[in-house]
Amino acid sequence: MFKIALDGPSGSGKSVMARAVAERLNILYVDTGALYRAIGLYMFRNGIDVNDNEAVSSNLKNIALELNHSDEGQVVLLNGENVNKDIRLPEISMYASKVSAIPEVRAFLLDIQRATAEKNNVIMDGRDIGTVIFPDAQVKIFLFARDEVRAMRRYKELTEKGIETTFEEVLSDMQKRDENDRTRSIAPAVPADDAIMLDSSDLNIEETISKILGIIDETLK
Ligand code: DC
Repeated sequence: MFKIALDGPSGSGKSVMARAVAERLNILYVDTGALYRAIGLYMFRNGIDVNDNEAVSSNLKNIALELNHSDEGQVVLLNGENVNKDIRLPEISMYASKVSAIPEVRAFLLDIQRATAEKNNVIMDGRDIGTVIFPDAQVKIFLFARDEVRAMRRYKELTEKGIETTFEEVLSDMQKRDENDRTRSIAPAVPADDAIMLDSSDLNIEETISKILGIIDETLK
């Protein structure tokens, strides 16, 4: 079994790339951000203050998370309910980022992430896959892009979905969240020492996929 860790900030294109690479290599794609989003969604729905570590931690016992994979992709079940759509609401992003800085939350999600790679070759996208979840991953890539480029991608994605927002709002939310993810004391969203850095700012989707496939090919051969 091999593991490919694809880490990087939001809007770097991780999920699009990981999905495409998984399809071409016929391996499993795991989107780990969805797990943090599901916990954020639970706290949001239940009015729990995500700045209160104690309150968040003590609510984890009420949460059962399941990750299912089929030809249609990944489905996250939060206490049995498919929450794929709700976890993508823009207001859930900051909730996810806040809960992701809480050690108990990260510990809670560790097993489910490791278990998905036990029986499958995987490409996993996240922030700490190459540093914490799979420090032994055969391939580690850290995908990034300039802030404005990432914000424009996210802005287009949201407006295409009919979500009303402005470019400035998206950029500022993204920068706040990046700062939160990068500076947290536990599993900060930084590249592993042995990760290959890939800047997607001036590459289109196809070019980025082929760079990633090239890196994988080089590393696994
Ligand atoms: O990839 P995403 O935007 O869906 O992730 C949502 C939040 O979850 C992000 O702000 C940081 C956090 N996250 C994390 O801390 N570790 C991961 N492996 C994946 C996501």
